[in-house]
Amino acid sequence: SCQLDKLAKAAGLQYFGTAIDNPSLNNQNYMRVARDISEFGSITPANGQKWSNTQPSQGRFSYTSGDSIANIAKQSGQQLRCHTLVWYNQLPGWVSSVYGKDQMQRIITAHIQNVAGHYKGQCTHWDVVNEAMEDDGRYRNNPMYRAMGVDYITHAFKTTAQTDPAARLYYNDFNIERCCNAKINATLSMLKTVISAGAPIHGVGMQGHSRVGKSPSKREMKETMAKFGELVDEVAFTEVDIRHTKLPTTAADRDQQALDYVEVVGACLETPKCVGITVWDFTDQYSWIPGQYPGEGEACLWDRNYNKKPAYTAIVNLLQSA
Ligand code: G3I
Repeated sequence: SCQLDKLAKAAGLQYFGTAIDNPSLNNQNYMRVARDISEFGSITPANGQKWSNTQPSQGRFSYTSGDSIANIAKQSGQQLRCHTLVWYNQLPGWVSSVYGKDQMQRIITAHIQNVAGHYKGQCTHWDVVNEAMEDDGRYRNNPMYRAMGVDYITHAFKTTAQTDPAARLYYNDFNIERCCNAKINATLSMLKTVISAGAPIHGVGMQGHSRVGKSPSKREMKETMAKFGELVDEVAFTEVDIRHTKLPTTAADRDQQALDYVEVVGACLETPKCVGITVWDFTDQYSWIPGQYPGEGEACLWDRNYNKKPAYTAIVNLLQSA
């Protein structure tokens, strides 16, 4: 049959996955697709495992949102790709008021031991550190960096490896798909720094949020993955969606979107170290894009009425011919 994860596996990838989020779990049309293991072999909680959900106040841990999604994956036989332990965004206020290095280190240790400990054995991958770099190549000046410098990254990876030794540990970021901008060069040198300081990093996740008609080409993405592949065992596209910047769309716009998605999937297929692709939700009904970019959207593979779009069909055709 012609479904995404089945075909991706036949074409040599480890998985084709999707992020899903808590507000959509009571929608039956949504769940029918989300639980379909032939479409999605891997599930990622879009918000449930983030710091603001898992440790909203110091020492008070909550796994309700994350577990709802982990349990869906478990019941459906799908893998769980976990997201994310240390990120500047969706970080509760109490963490931002920590300034001492030792204190911050203890806080990161406790957070990871609890959260990665809770999910131990369930996560095939963890996005351990998310979005640590700025587009201009500087380290993002977040509370963890202010307290610890780049050591917070090393420390986060070491602690996660100790807590859940079976998970594949990723550094994850956006705007690192198109070779080779300032952010990619800075990310490469950051990775060298922390790896030589002992950070056990298995993979680099390229989020893959982009815009129709302005999305990176297959050639550009393969070049980037080759560079990351010199430093780590594997790479993956972790949050793919390709949004229209002008709505409503025409048939030509939707065909262009299909071409753009095919470049991403093709780049992964042609890169031996690229293990899989995750889309950042699968239906326009629940995409994060309109909330963040008013007037833009329709970035997903299914439309809001659960019809498959040309991008879906184009990916299936590519995977079938691979
Ligand atoms: O939880 C509150 C809820 O109480 C309130 O009623 C509602 C009103 O708007 O907001 C809810 O919080 C929202 C949260 O998602 C949970 O739904 C936030 O406003 C909203 O900003 C937040 O957006 C998430 C975003 O990360 C935050 O940066 C998106 O759903 C999520 O898809 C998105 O995911 C990120 C990845 O983690 C990292 N890479 C980029 C990607 C897209 O921004």
